[in-house]
Amino acid sequence: MSMTTSSLADRQTRPAAIGTENRSSTLLDAEAIRAEFPILAQINARGQRLAYLDSAASAQKPSQVLDALDDYYRRYNANIHRGVYGLSELATNAYEAAREQVAAFINAQARECIFVRNTTEAINLVAQTWGRANLCPGDLIINTVLDHHSNLVPWQLLAQQTGARTAYVPIRADGQLDLAVYETLLAQGPKLVAFSHVSNAVGTVNDAAWLTQRAKAAGATVVIDAAQSAPHRPLDVQSIGCDFLAFSGHKVMGPMGSGVLFGRYELLAEMPPFMAGGGMVASVSLDGSVWADPPARFEAGTPAVGEAIGLGIATGYLDNLDRSAVAAHEEHLAELARAGLSEIPGVELHGPLSASARSGIVGFTVEGLPPGEVAKVLDAEHVAVRAGRHCCHPLFNVLGLDAIIRASFYVYNTEDDVTRLISGVEKARGLLGPRSFTGTAPGHSGDPCARRLIA
Ligand SMILES: Cc1ncc(COP(=O)(O)O)c(C=O)c1O
Repeated sequence: MSMTTSSLADRQTRPAAIGTENRSSTLLDAEAIRAEFPILAQINARGQRLAYLDSAASAQKPSQVLDALDDYYRRYNANIHRGVYGLSELATNAYEAAREQVAAFINAQARECIFVRNTTEAINLVAQTWGRANLCPGDLIINTVLDHHSNLVPWQLLAQQTGARTAYVPIRADGQLDLAVYETLLAQGPKLVAFSHVSNAVGTVNDAAWLTQRAKAAGATVVIDAAQSAPHRPLDVQSIGCDFLAFSGHKVMGPMGSGVLFGRYELLAEMPPFMAGGGMVASVSLDGSVWADPPARFEAGTPAVGEAIGLGIATGYLDNLDRSAVAAHEEHLAELARAGLSEIPGVELHGPLSASARSGIVGFTVEGLPPGEVAKVLDAEHVAVRAGRHCCHPLFNVLGLDAIIRASFYVYNTEDDVTRLISGVEKARGLLGPRSFTGTAPGHSGDPCARRLIA
């Protein structure tokens, strides 16, 4: 085997669109980046190229990630940590190199990064290990109404299991968290504060460092759902000061079934395992077992090796692009979209009023038109958006909305995609006409979580 895993990573993470001289923090050549994502070359029967505006659900993958997966399965597919033969060593080295890469991505130590399947699994891991070991009846868990079900339901379950109670930070009329209520809740001495860095439904960016610092001052352990921030902006767990942070690989251009849980090592070292089996033990006898040290303790069974390697490549790709430039590019497109959509009669934009609290996510409704139908008209124009409640039912209840259309922007989106979105919405108004929209029942709104709920 002539190629080492590090030379493989060096070659694979550099986006072709970025030369060494082109690392401006404000400039991204989105067309050149787009060309690195094979799926985006698709043209529909009417010759329209794909405007993919659903990266908040799952991002597309650049050739570098696809090649890394292909390379693993074609050239060195083998189980890790257990083999002494060349293929297994190569796979083990690449898997551990990927851990180093994702650790660098969030400024953590490699031993603090656990490979999981997704954000959901990461949060459940914390709830069922740290949470069950540390929460007692009456203890307070603080969430926010902006949170995704993946960062709400695991804590509700934990509260049921332990007798802890939950409380939620509401949002103000300007769409941002009500920090006065947060302070009041913190005064009650919560055991745990869990919040999303960026709202997946309406794009609100929370000040993660400030929220964490206040929670730590109140003595709480802090869990951050970074599913919508890790892909889009610089993320530094040390400067934020959180105890745990979770993100999904598939949203950072990595493979499906890959994700990361960061945990401060002192906490991980004290935590019981989440799942038991091979790979997570130091020794086993018929009388009992001794757990391996983290991160192995939390990676029972054969992991998704190729997928973790692909995630390492994806995070390297994003780092090479410069994540401040990524955030600036997406926010520019989102603001263009908001400006264009707001010119269309009947369009209502949702999300924070202040531009500084907005991300690359644009949530909107069109008066009289069911969001799912608008999304279908856009699909016919080869513009992919999502419509529904975006796994945030409590937020939608607070907002008094049944569903919204969500356009989410990423590095490969261009101003042309924005124009296509706006003209598609205009077309939907023309085709469907303002109708009386009395709301849709869960499951009919195009929301996959709602479908799961009624299934
Ligand atoms: C803010 C947020 N948290 C958690 C999740 C859950 O991610 P996954 O389904 O990859 O576990 C999502 C997915 O959309 C999300 O946007």
